[in-house]
This record gives sequence, C-alpha cells and structure tokens, in this order.
Amino acid sequence: MKSCHFFIWACSIVLFSPIADGLGVNWGTQATHQLPPMTVVQMLQDNGINKVKLFDADDSTMSALAGTNIEVMIAIPNDQLAVMNDYDAAKKWVDRNVTRYNFNGGVNIKYVAVGNEPFLTTYNGSFLNTTMPALRNIQNAINDAGLGDTIKATVPLNADVYNSPASNPVPSAGRFRPDIADLMTEMVQFFHQNNAPFTVNIYPFLSLYANPDFPFDFAFFDGGTATPVVDGPIQYTNVFDANFDTLVSALKAVGLGNLPIVVGEVGWPTDADKNARTDLAERFYAGLLKRLANKQGTPLRPGADIEVYLFSLIDEDAKSIAPGSFERHWGIFRYDGQPKYPMDLSGQGQNKMLVGAKNVQYLPKTWCVFNPDTKTDLSKLGDNINYACTFADCTSLGYGSSCNGLDANGNASYAFNMYFQAQNQKELSCVFEGLGMISTQNYSKDQCNFIVQLAPSAGVVCSVPLLAVLLLVCFVMGLLF
Ligand SMILES: *[C@@H]1O[C@H](CO)[C@@H](O)[C@H](O)[C@H]1NC(C)=O
Ligand SMILES: *[C@@H]1O[C@H](CO)[C@@H](O)[C@H](O)[C@H]1NC(C)=O
Ligand SMILES: *[C@@H]1O[C@H](CO)[C@@H](O)[C@H](O)[C@H]1NC(C)=O
Ligand SMILES: *[C@@H]1O[C@H](CO)[C@@H](O)[C@H](O)[C@H]1NC(C)=O
Ligand SMILES: *[C@@H]1O[C@H](CO)[C@@H](O)[C@H](O)[C@H]1NC(C)=O
Repeated sequence: MKSCHFFIWACSIVLFSPIADGLGVNWGTQATHQLPPMTVVQMLQDNGINKVKLFDADDSTMSALAGTNIEVMIAIPNDQLAVMNDYDAAKKWVDRNVTRYNFNGGVNIKYVAVGNEPFLTTYNGSFLNTTMPALRNIQNAINDAGLGDTIKATVPLNADVYNSPASNPVPSAGRFRPDIADLMTEMVQFFHQNNAPFTVNIYPFLSLYANPDFPFDFAFFDGGTATPVVDGPIQYTNVFDANFDTLVSALKAVGLGNLPIVVGEVGWPTDADKNARTDLAERFYAGLLKRLANKQGTPLRPGADIEVYLFSLIDEDAKSIAPGSFERHWGIFRYDGQPKYPMDLSGQGQNKMLVGAKNVQYLPKTWCVFNPDTKTDLSKLGDNINYACTFADCTSLGYGSSCNGLDANGNASYAFNMYFQAQNQKELSCVFEGLGMISTQNYSKDQCNFIVQLAPSAGVVCSVPLLAVLLLVCFVMGLLF
C-alpha cells in the first residue's frame, strides 16, 4: 500500500510541472536484486527523464509507468521473434502488451522494439529470417488496432549493420553490410512507409575496447589531440559523429537519406576495464549531453534534435560478460540507484549529481569475509573463490578494476561477500568449507566497495481496485486543471 503514495505524488507531478528535455534512458533488469519499479520511476521523474527504453514489457514495470506520461519503448526479445512470424501471435502480443495499456492514465507507449541487435555478427545469422516478418506483423497488428499513428515498431540494431569499405574508410562511403544489404533495404523501406525511425546503438567505448590503436580522444566530444578524419569538406573529430553519419550515408545510398534515426543505446561503463572509469564516463557524457542540449546534430544532419537513450540507467550484476567484464557496470546509477559521478542532464555542464533512488531498503550491515584464523587447508581457497564468482559478480576484481589492488585474502573476502550478498546474506552461504566468516565490519577500501545488497522487494504494488480509484481521481483532477 505504501507505494501508492508514490502514485499520488507522480500524478500531481504529471499534472503540475513541465516535463524536462527529450533525453531517454535504457532500463535493463538483469540484476540479482532489483529496486522496486515504483522507486525507479520516481528516480526518472526526479531527474526530469521522460523517455525510457525497456527490454521487455514486464507487468510490474508497466504498472509503475502507468499514469506517468513517460514515453516508453517496450520490446520483444530475440527469442520471441520466430513466434511473432505468426500474425495471430503478434496480434495477441500487441493486444496484451500494447493495447491493454492504451487508456487515459495508462502507459504512454511510443515504440515497440522488435528484437535487440538481431543482426549482430556474433549471432551467426540466427535471426536473419525471422526479424523482418516479425517487424511486419507487429506494426500491422498495431495499425489494425488503430494505434499506428502514435506507436511505431522499430528494430534496435548494432552499428555493425553498416560500414565503410576499408579502401575508403570515411562516413560518406557508408553502406549497409553486404551480407544483409537486401534485408536492410527492405527494412528501411518498411520503416519509411510507416513513419517509423531507424534505431541504432553506437558505442565509442567499444571502438576503444576493440582496437588498441584507436585514437583515444576520438572516443570523446571535446576534441583533444585526435587527428580529424577528413571526408571531403568535413572534418570528423569524434567517432560518434563519424559513426552516425556512416549510417546517414548508408540510408542515402538506398534513397532514404532523411529517415529519422533514434540512438537506442549510447554510454560509458565505469568498472572492469582499464577505460571503464567514472572520470572517463563523466567526460563522455558531459560532451554528449552538451551537444544534445545545443541540438548540434552531426555534420550530415546539422541541427538535428537527435532522440538518444543512454545506456544504461542502473548497473546489472547478472548481465552476460561474454562481450567483456564491463557489461555489468554501464549504469549512470549504481546497483542501489545512487549516482556514481557528476552529471548534468540539461547539458549546461553544471557540476551536480543526479538525484538518487529514495527510501532504498538494504539488507543488514553484515558482510562475509575470509576468516584469517581458519583451520581449513588453504589449498581449498581457489575452488571456493571460483564457486563464489561463478554464482556472483566478481568483475570488480579483474585487471583495471576497482578492487584489483586487494591482496590474496582481500580477493577471497570480496568474492565471498559478493556471493553472500547475492544469496541475501543466508548464513549457509558464508561457510566456504570453513574459510568464510560473517562480520559486521565494513571492509570497503578506497575505490573498492564491499557492498551490502538491496533487501528483496516485496513486489507488492497498489492493488487493482485502489489503482483504479487513484487513476479516476488523477483523471478528474486532470480535467479540472
Ligand atoms: C507480453 O509481454 C510479456 C513480457 O515481455 C511476455 O512475457 C508475454 O508473453 C507477452 N504477451 C503475449 C500475449 O505474448
Ligand atoms: C557462432 O559461431 C561461432 C563459431 O562457429 C560459435 O562459437 C558461436 O557459439 C556461435 N554463436 C551463436 C550465437 O550461435
Ligand atoms: C534462413 O532461410 C534460408 C533460406 O530459406 C535457409 O537456408 C537458412 O538456413 C535459414 N536460416 C536460419 C537460421 O533458419
Ligand atoms: C586477486 O584476483 C585477481 C582477479 O582474479 C587477480 O588478478 C589477482 O592477481 C589476485 N591477487 C592476488 C594477490 O592473489
Ligand atoms: C562501507 O564503507 C564505504 C567506504 O568507506 C562506504 O562508502 C559505504 O557506504 C559503507 N557501507 C555501508 C553499508 O555502510
């Protein structure tokens, strides 16, 4: 019931204060412990963020967003694309996950993301046959439901769907990847017919990560010492512009140079790689946000008011680290919704922190650490650390990470604690064959944070009848004011 207070508050905010700028964030939920959705929605509103991109259409997330007017991109995961090749299944999905929320005080759905980077080369073509039919069916089902004017289906694509030839590596030579050129042409024509945007994820951090020779300053927006890329009369001083304009050129080459582009993901991680640092994230976002505020656009689209979704909102300790250990550290907020570094979303460059999550409930201030007085054979330490790190997040221990400076005992303590916290501090999860012990002493040191996890959320939101009454009140007040 308590969380209904928030609903009343959110209702009053929507009615009485202007919505801030058009910047969005990605809200991923691959974490062992989640903040309650209502808490996250309050964070969004406290920071004036009025666009959010999801990776599914989870009920509890959608309920929390209901009545807020926040614009939402919901999503169909890749493993559902094949199912959506059947129109009836697509129609059912749209009925259940789009139409159902389309009422006054419902969810302000703006886009449906069909798949997530389905043509990524590492997927070996697994989704090449199913993405386009799924896209058609979903947009057609939206159109048939009478919502096609306001809700658009799109496909967030990795920037690897286009490139410039090695012989002429400039943005103006951008073309869709040869192996999917026909497919991409068909897709962008479909977007055009439906007034839907092209959605692309652009990652300067990954350019730097993938290529040790990549000119460091080119990843940022403040010039630095990077040698510009000269493309005819244009000089590119950052990889974001160069990448975006490569896409503009690829679109132009198929006759759709003016197709709207949404940047579905862009961001900088803060741990578990030598370049994943808070100071670099701060530098990256400061440059990006300033350009967005100035509506600077890119050389091929000067003055464009680009819609951009930051990646991401909150750290996710259960994300796959196949692409790299930094994957669990993309949040502009920590796992507990607290800001990591100064960031001014208005792009005015003020040295201020984002507003953190409020009323966060933690587990008790208890840690699990290595017991220096253990009688257990220390040769068992390695296996126990491995066990802990298989089921919990130890990415902060690696080279270039925040806890890399720990000694051997410190390493064990860190690993044991991460496991213990992931297991909600259950006593039995701090045994480790006698190597672990529970402690009330905080072992955090310098940059290395020995965390206390979030209390598991009760998961109870407003009851349906109560929500209905509140929606009615909110609606009536909306009419009055
Ligand atoms: C609606 O979305 C949810 C969450 O993504 C999914 O589990 C469910 O299957 C969808 N509904 C239908 C009818 O497909
Ligand atoms: C793609 O192929 C590579 C090499 O054949 C393989 O290692 C990888 O597991 C495959 N990935 C997927 C998603 O099928
Ligand atoms: C996609 O379709 C082609 C042609 O019908 C077929 O050869 C290929 O195996 C299919 N790919 C997948 C992943 O199903
Ligand atoms: C601590 O663990 C990290 C990551 O596994 C490793 O690189 C480092 O060498 C370890 N330090 C000691 C002193 O064992
Ligand atoms: C542990 O100490 C660190 C730094 O010394 C501090 O930031 C953190 O809030 C403390 N943790 C708890 C749960 O009190």
